[in-house]
Amino acid sequence: MSQCWSPTSWRSRKATQQPSYPCLEAVDRAVEQLAKLPPLVTSWEIESLKSQLAEAAAGQRFLLQGGDCAESLEECESSNIAAKLKILLQMSLVLVHGTRKRIIRVGRFAGQYAKPRSEDTETRDGVTLPSYRGDLINRLPFTEADRTHNPELMLRAYERSALTLNFIRSLIDGGFADLHHPEYWDLAFVEHSPRAAEYQRIVESIGDSLRFMETLAGTSIGEINRVDFYTSHEGLHLLYEQAQTRQVPRRTGWYNLATHFPWIGMRTADPDGAHVEYFRGIANPIAVKIGPTMTREILLRLLDDLHPDDEPGRLTLIHRFGAHKIAKGLPPLIEAVKETGKTVLFCCDPMHGNTQRTANGVKTRNFDHILAEIEQAFEIHDNAGTYLGGVHIELTGEDVTECVGGARGLAEADLSRAYKSQVDPRLNYEQALELALLIARRVSQMNSASRT
Ligand code: PEP
Ligand code: CO
Repeated sequence: MSQCWSPTSWRSRKATQQPSYPCLEAVDRAVEQLAKLPPLVTSWEIESLKSQLAEAAAGQRFLLQGGDCAESLEECESSNIAAKLKILLQMSLVLVHGTRKRIIRVGRFAGQYAKPRSEDTETRDGVTLPSYRGDLINRLPFTEADRTHNPELMLRAYERSALTLNFIRSLIDGGFADLHHPEYWDLAFVEHSPRAAEYQRIVESIGDSLRFMETLAGTSIGEINRVDFYTSHEGLHLLYEQAQTRQVPRRTGWYNLATHFPWIGMRTADPDGAHVEYFRGIANPIAVKIGPTMTREILLRLLDDLHPDDEPGRLTLIHRFGAHKIAKGLPPLIEAVKETGKTVLFCCDPMHGNTQRTANGVKTRNFDHILAEIEQAFEIHDNAGTYLGGVHIELTGEDVTECVGGARGLAEADLSRAYKSQVDPRLNYEQALELALLIARRVSQMNSASRT
């Protein structure tokens, strides 16, 4: 790999999954404008996340990364954003309680607008149009105008990302995430959830501990009121990422200032490809999705190219095999990492390897498979002597019906009631909270087993 890196050096490599815009002048105009607009995040936030991820890789923290498969421009609404924050906060509370570790909260939001597709085109009733690639690139309705790749959408998605982040920051600064007031995050249907009582018990127990510590200290524990949220998205559309890649005063290196924590998707993790070239040069903490197509040889090359100095917190490997493939696929890759002697953060995405279709052709995921993959992941890491330090979940704070199973026993026949995702099926509020409770229970059992 050549040592010469610049924000545009990826252009000399093969870039898959990129838009093909009809007018190149309009692309230049949009990228130029984007490059002038202020950044969405700052380098010190990025560095602070990197040091937290380093602690997670060392076994001292746990990463909760979650959100929609894809955000949409229309759904940039206050209720939707607040609901996503609420469910992530509730899950993190449950995880703090069960893991006894500080949780790093990272949303798949404020920029998750581009999707990789297996087919470039889609045909309906004899008409063939470009596939929908996410609102950063084109629009969902099946018309020529909507499906044509439009560079202006980079600006629209950037603006929506800024609006989303602005609202999240205001909510957090205003005390929305204050641990003294978990009732701020109650979602309307919390009372109806079969798991509500278990959740309430955890909330009360955390409230008691907080009051106890504050009584001892004779003052309120300020630090604990502050909850940080970080952003992440798949760094897929390289022109968009490049336009926000900047140098900042008093620091060396280049930062992608469109998000704190970008990741390389499974389909674009080719060591010879443009995505790996772009990612190797940015100073952000980065992640790579690895699944059944990943080989030991490729992974070793990725570790060389993306994690050459073993910088703490730099690299997270998000494994996503599926409940039926993880037992065979993951252990050799863990061994490959161990051989390099480098430290990475391992995170389990139990969603993307478990997508299936119902008899009617609807994309869904089964809660039992999601849970089974996580449980196996804990066991595999335990046997390998490595630490599973995070989970990556597609979820929403809304009452959708996209994944089957869970305590309420959602069946295939129920999916049509509130199926809203245009891309992958997400866990709804109850299923997400239930998953967090089960993960917390599992970790707490593992912790007590290791103490005895
Ligand atoms: C995703 O995270 O939505 C995705 C497409 O994942 P993967 O790259 O793991 O398939
Ligand atoms: Co997805």
